[in-house]
Amino acid sequence: MTGPEIGRIDTPTARPRRLRRSAAMRDLVSEVHVRVDDLIAPLFVREGIDEPVPIESLPGVVQHTLESLRSEVSELVDLGVKSVILFGIPAEKDEVGSQAYHPDGIVQQALAALLADHGDRLVLMADLCVDEYTSHGHCGIVDARGDVDNDATLELYAKAAVAQATAGAHVVAPSGMMDGQVAVIRAALDDAGFPDVAILAYSAKYASALYGPFRDAVDVSIADGGDRKGYQQDHRNVREAIREIDLDVAEGADMVMVKPALAYLDVIRDVAQHVDVPVAAYHVSGEYAMIHAAGERGWIDADAVAFEHLTSIKRAGANIILTYFTRWFAEQAQR
Ligand code: PBG
Repeated sequence: MTGPEIGRIDTPTARPRRLRRSAAMRDLVSEVHVRVDDLIAPLFVREGIDEPVPIESLPGVVQHTLESLRSEVSELVDLGVKSVILFGIPAEKDEVGSQAYHPDGIVQQALAALLADHGDRLVLMADLCVDEYTSHGHCGIVDARGDVDNDATLELYAKAAVAQATAGAHVVAPSGMMDGQVAVIRAALDDAGFPDVAILAYSAKYASALYGPFRDAVDVSIADGGDRKGYQQDHRNVREAIREIDLDVAEGADMVMVKPALAYLDVIRDVAQHVDVPVAAYHVSGEYAMIHAAGERGWIDADAVAFEHLTSIKRAGANIILTYFTRWFAEQAQR
């Protein structure tokens, strides 16, 4: 040995680097895989427009016309995507969000068209809430004090569930965080002759600042600078999420969701270990927008970060991911 004596370094026998030496080796030993089958594409359909309208804060995502929605979904199906979730933007909003349950409401029209196009080859989901449809932007009926009236709102959700099922939804996804919503929706579906329509409950939905671009997408601003902290969860809590999940499963949820995803990977992990129903996670609009914005500035490699995010959500324990990256991911997977 030449040079100063710096102490003997034992030659390691355990060398984890052996399994990282080539892309093929890394693929062989990878523990988690994101598949196109795992993804749900959120899509927006707007009443009364002739051309799709781009959403500035969600690059690559648009408010669809009925026709552009149909072609987009056909392309997604050709790419192997198995499921979409629809959000509607009505031409007219009112106090109770009546277009959410009107038989000719825009989402009901879209469900019927997509069912006719694809039948059971595509799992058709509908977000079940009224905030896109109310003039005040809240997820329910606002009482004299300005609070959202839980029990009065449940009746709206029951009607919307039946309207969506009648139009062809395979799955309804209540996102309003009203207490007892899953039980009321299950009963309404069963009474209306839809025992086979499933419920994906947005069970642990946090009052997050990451929904901003989504609210641009659905033209929602909450009246009087309000927020959803009176019904969506506080981001400081995780045991509360387990309580919400338990209630929803007991009320009949077939699948449960945690939302958003990245800042809540610990919640996803706890929920996945706790329940025996499929767990979905929503990689929300703000998460998508952040990746795009930083990528556009050249500050991060957006594609690489998108892969990393989706993988981490599965690694945490989610079975299903709702993501605006679905189309991009399916295109990458084809290469
Ligand atoms: C409510 C709903 C919201 C999102 C999905 N369903 C918005 C909210 O609770 O304010 C947000 C999704 C996203 O940010 O991508 N209908």
